[in-house]
Amino acid sequence: MTTTRRQFNRLLGATALSAVAAPMIARRAHAEPLTIKFSHVVAPDTPKGRGAEKFKELAEKYTNGQVKVEVYPNSQLYKDKEELEALQLGAVHMLAPSLAKFGPLGVRAFEAFDLPLIFPDKEALRRITNGPIGKEMLGLLSEKGILGLAFWDNGFKIMSANSPLHVPDDFLGLKMRIQSSKVLEAQMNALGAIPQVLAFSEVYQALQTGVVDGTENPPSNMYTQKMHEVQKHATLSRHGYLGYAVIVNNKFWTDLPADVRAELDKAMAEASEFTNGIALEENERALAAMKAAGTTTFYELTADERKQWVDTLLPVHDQMAERIGPDLVKRIQKETGVA
Ligand code: LMR
Repeated sequence: MTTTRRQFNRLLGATALSAVAAPMIARRAHAEPLTIKFSHVVAPDTPKGRGAEKFKELAEKYTNGQVKVEVYPNSQLYKDKEELEALQLGAVHMLAPSLAKFGPLGVRAFEAFDLPLIFPDKEALRRITNGPIGKEMLGLLSEKGILGLAFWDNGFKIMSANSPLHVPDDFLGLKMRIQSSKVLEAQMNALGAIPQVLAFSEVYQALQTGVVDGTENPPSNMYTQKMHEVQKHATLSRHGYLGYAVIVNNKFWTDLPADVRAELDKAMAEASEFTNGIALEENERALAAMKAAGTTTFYELTADERKQWVDTLLPVHDQMAERIGPDLVKRIQKETGVA
């Protein structure tokens, strides 16, 4: 690291940042490190939580302590929608919202990730996130003042409720919590359920008090939020994917001294590899722990039941294609082999 104290002082001074964005950097005296606040909504012991900690470890190491990363898990600082606003205002610097959360920001292309059954497996997903389509999608964030750095995995979602969910008819009239996504809304409507948008931090209580009957999430989120304690049934449907885009405030990032940014880019590349390497295992561990807890019955669909799910959910692709961008949906379907 060759960044001088003077360079940092210049960065921390008035030059780089707007009046609104200025407080985002901890402007402390001279040799104080530059602080990056990384806010997220899940537990530390999840793929995203561990990824954030890995980035912190590597970023601080590679910059010889010139950069300090503060990780705020569990919606401690901001809930889902607020965190994106906070990033745009510069109150936090780094987030990893789920891909579903970019639609409400006005970047509808990301809603393609919510299409049910669009990724038959992780390899198909990787062809998108590691390929030109993923790159284009991250690029779309720039018009919102956001720079997309990486895609991080969580995993495939399972459905849960207090009644068995074997066939689409089992969803009739159930209030199902979703993230704020028009595609997820269409998915729940297709199943005959009543979709209810709630912030992630509110899901456990909503399930506990009966405000909603059920939800969908990868096992790691379900377990670390203790949802299994308030959900008697879950179906290992793996009907949709939940992953993240790691994002930063564009101005903040590009105003960093080039050598610092290079070290942070390196830390991010390694943290991404780490996160994507542990995600599957974290979800398997969470599922095993929930099975051991014994409060929820986990159900594998039969071939006939799965066919009913597929027949019910695939039409959501056509239904939502116009909104997401028909060409994009077609390109993704071609890559993933799902039509
Ligand atoms: C949810 O709201 O269910 C997820 O997006 C939470 C997360 O960040 O994994």
